Amino acid sequence: MDHLTHRPRRLRRDGVRSLVSEVDLSTDDLVAPVFVDATTDDRQPIPSMPGHERVPVSDAVARVEEIRETGVEAVILFGIPDSKDAQGSRAWAEDGVVQRAVRAIGEETDAYVITDVCMCEYTDHGHCGVIEDRADDDPTLTVKNDETLELLAETAVSHAAAGADMVAPSSMTDGMVGAIREGLDDAGHTEVPIMSYAAKYESGFYGPFRDAADGAPAFGDRRHYQMDPANAREAMREVELDVEQGADVLMIKPALPYLDVVSAVGQEFDRPIAAYNVSGEYAMLHAAAEKGWLDLEAVAHESLLSIKRAGADLILTYFAEDVARRL
Ligand code: PBG
Repeated sequence: MDHLTHRPRRLRRDGVRSLVSEVDLSTDDLVAPVFVDATTDDRQPIPSMPGHERVPVSDAVARVEEIRETGVEAVILFGIPDSKDAQGSRAWAEDGVVQRAVRAIGEETDAYVITDVCMCEYTDHGHCGVIEDRADDDPTLTVKNDETLELLAETAVSHAAAGADMVAPSSMTDGMVGAIREGLDDAGHTEVPIMSYAAKYESGFYGPFRDAADGAPAFGDRRHYQMDPANAREAMREVELDVEQGADVLMIKPALPYLDVVSAVGQEFDRPIAAYNVSGEYAMLHAAAEKGWLDLEAVAHESLLSIKRAGADLILTYFAEDVARRL
């Protein structure tokens, strides 16, 4: 029985398995998304994301405290503005929804506050930047890259001025990290780090989020600015550009369908790696669990563990509170 000298089962028993486990989940690794809505006075449940709500600005502090009670200290804020226009001007308004929420959270809690920097929730057309003049029946669309950079920088600076601890640009605008770094530095926010959505794919898994944040494009799609799901090598180039421009943390998004990219970026780049376990990854597990087909606790934990195993240092996830409660 020579071939049974090696018995991997020896280390799978209770008592030893945790000693030899390669990765662990900890509340320190998790960032919880929060939706703040300037158009409502009451909390609004998000049907496709069970357990999540849009909260009014007046409830932002309470919402963050609920999250902190589970042991999760970091949040990422998304805003639903009181009004939208072609430019997305409420994105950088001093009295904008995110700016007001960040100020309140900063004054009343010790949470670490990250803000998503993008235009799609603020523009009436729902795209992540300024668009070219187009005829209503013209199906082609281009988001103007360079004109958008200034607006992103202004938005990031307004978040930092309100007290954001970190900014996270998600628009996949070429040069966005450099433009934001310059804007922040010029305004004296040299200590505010940038977590770049460095490799963000044009993914069907964002569906529930677009309902939640009211950020679906009114026409066209995001194929000409977000990455093609077929491409992994291109992600390395995207990430490299963001590193050159001063990104402090590199995010891959979505997470589970792109674990190869998480792993490759983690091995190649000497920066913390974040992965965004997106709304569709959350919704599909909930839907299957509701049908009794999956054990939600088990698959949520396994999902996050897989993301860590692939090499992520931190995970943005709608499961943050549920998983943290059980850790
Ligand atoms: C904004 C943004 C999106 C997400 C995060 N920031 C939507 C999009 O690009 O369409 C998606 C997050 C999720 O699905 O959980 N650009």
